[in-house]
Parts: sequence; structure tokens; C-alpha cells
Amino acid sequence: MLHPKTTEITFKLNNGVQIPALGLGTASPKERAQETKQAVKAAIKAGYRHIDTAWFYRTEPYIGEAIKELIEDGVIRREDIFVTSKVWPVYWDNVSKSLDETLTDLGLDYVDLYLQHWPLCFQKVEDVKDGIHGIKGLPKKGEREALFAENADWMETYKQLEKIYLDPNDKRVRAIGVSNFPIEYLQRVLKECEVKPTVNQVEIHPHLPQWELKEFCAENNILLTAYSPLGSTGAPVIKLPLVKELSEKYHMTVNDILISYHIRKGTVVIPRSLNPVRIASCIEFAPLTEEEITLLDNIGKKEPIRYIDEFFASSIPGFTGEK
Ligand SMILES: NC(=O)c1ccc[n+]([C@@H]2O[C@H](COP(=O)([O-])OP(=O)(O)OC[C@H]3O[C@@H](n4cnc5c(N)ncnc54)[C@H](OP(=O)(O)O)[C@@H]3O)[C@@H](O)[C@H]2O)c1
Repeated sequence: MLHPKTTEITFKLNNGVQIPALGLGTASPKERAQETKQAVKAAIKAGYRHIDTAWFYRTEPYIGEAIKELIEDGVIRREDIFVTSKVWPVYWDNVSKSLDETLTDLGLDYVDLYLQHWPLCFQKVEDVKDGIHGIKGLPKKGEREALFAENADWMETYKQLEKIYLDPNDKRVRAIGVSNFPIEYLQRVLKECEVKPTVNQVEIHPHLPQWELKEFCAENNILLTAYSPLGSTGAPVIKLPLVKELSEKYHMTVNDILISYHIRKGTVVIPRSLNPVRIASCIEFAPLTEEEITLLDNIGKKEPIRYIDEFFASSIPGFTGEK
């Protein structure tokens, strides 16, 4: 049986907007941020139609350059691609400003999906030399203590997202959602807000299958997006013996197996790569069986590993802040 490429598969958000199941992650190391431009061009030329970015990544200007050139060269039209961005906790109380800075950097009039990056509120600390738009991305006191805004509620950020989305004269976002939200936080959003998040973007891979969150989101028609699907820098998850075994069985790359694992479960997946050859050669869809998916899930059910465990996130259930 012939299967579509993973780049061709789409899911429907709860507001009717279609989202490509595979997106290119762009949280590259700061010193390699400019390589994101050629990675995005390689991805789009290979068939990718979804780019995941954020105000915090410092990659938006390079993504903007890539999109501009691809449109000028007639490779795509703006409406052919899906761009996700996120508001960072320093702008917890001024989402509109963050969105404007993102749109300016991307050279776009709108993003397709705009997420609250973390349910946290940081202080705004000026940093003209090394900041992002003049603000320190991660304000700290000492090495491992973030400067949180006092008397602030992360719900304020979601309420501002909602306001932008609901304003009929504001066309800057087609859908809104959240990221790094555990079940308890989603319950609060569902109770206190009018607009249901379309997406919750969290770390998911066989070492961290997040099955309880998956069940809750499925019941509430919220799509999950899997970040760090390979375990982040160094791609530790590709080393799992079962992943290697499945790549041999299906005659596909280990990346294909890990990408297909999410898509088979109805989860959007956003692997990062700056390697154009790897980007173009990892778009095959492996029709993994239910049994194979269960075996992969069981790895993390037995021995969960969270690779992105930021020190500033220890107040959020599920995070220990150990890394
Ligand atoms: N919402 C959030 O809080 C949040 C947090 C983390 C990430 N994200 C999003 O999710 C995206 C993906 O997560 P991630 O960036 O943490 O990492 P990832 O996609 O899990 O892993 C990316 C790393 O794996 C390497 N890699 C890929 N295939 C490989 C292979 N076959 N052999 C060896 N190395 C390989 C890549 O190197 P090459 O460049 O050499 O291919 C890259 O360094 C991010 O870029 C970002 O867009 C969101």
C-alpha cells in the first residue's frame, strides 16, 4: 500500500483550521540561529508546510528571510504554509506587543497559530546589548533563579490571546493555544476562558509518552504537538533499540519512525534539524501497528525521561526543574 509522505498529512484544529502534522522545529542554538534560513528553505522545498518558532528563539528574522525568498521565487504562497509562534513569559502582560515584534521579524501579517509558551510570568529587564528587542529573554538572579513578576497570573496571558483572537478587526492570528500546560492548568483555562486552546505543545516521545495528558486532550478536543521528539540536542531517543529495529523492519530512518509514531497517534510533531539532507530524507510515513505503538509507549511508562526540564519551570506540575 502506498502511503502519503508525513509532510502531506494534516489534522483539523477545534476551530476548523487545518494544521500540517509535521512541522520544522527552529529552536537552534543561538550561535547557529542564522542557519535556520537555509534549513527552512530546504524543508519547504522537501514538502514541509509548517514551521514552528517563537519570539524567544531569535530565529524569526531568518525564517522571515527564507519565507520572503521562497515566495519571491514562486515556490510557495503565504497561504500555503502554516507558521506557529509563541509569546514568551516576559510579555505575559503585553501579548499584542510580542505578537507585533514576531510579525515584524517574520515579515508576515499573521501567524497561523499563536501559543502561550509557558504558564509563567517573568519580569521585564532591559538588555540593549544582548536582549531580544531590548529585553532579557531569561531574567535571572544568580545562575539558576528566574526573576518572576510579582502578583502576576499566567492566566492573564491566555486572556489576552483570547481577546486578540476574538476581535473581528484583528486578523493577526488564525488560532490560539498553549504550551507546557499540565492537565490542572488546562482545566482552569477551560473553566475560566471562552476560547478553548486548539493546541497544547509539550515534550513527547517514547521516553515521555504523556498518555494521561493525551487522554485529557482527546476528550476535550485539544490537539497535542510533540516537541523535542528526538530528545533534543544529541537526539538520544533515536538510540532506543526498538526504534532501530522498527527502522530496519520498515526500511526507513530512525527519524521517520519517531515522527510516524506521533502522527499515527494524531499528534502534531515538530523535529528540529539544520541539516538539509536529513530534513529532506526523513519524510516517509511508517504505518506502525497498534502493538508497536504500545511497545514504544511502554518504554516511557516504565521509566520516564524528561529531557527539557528547565530550572525556571519547577513550579509547574510534572517539571522538577532539574536541568
Ligand atoms: N514549547 C516549548 O517549550 C518547546 C521546547 C522545546 C522545543 N520546542 C520546539 O520543538 C522543536 C524540536 O525540539 P528540539 O529542538 O528540542 O529537538 P529535537 O527535534 O528533539 O532534536 C533536534 C536535534 O537532533 C539532532 N538530530 C536529528 N536527527 C538526528 C540523527 N539522525 N542523528 C543525530 N542527530 C540528529 C538535530 O541535529 P541536526 O541539526 O544536525 O539535524 C538537532 O540537534 C524545537 O526546535 C522547537 O521548535 C518547543
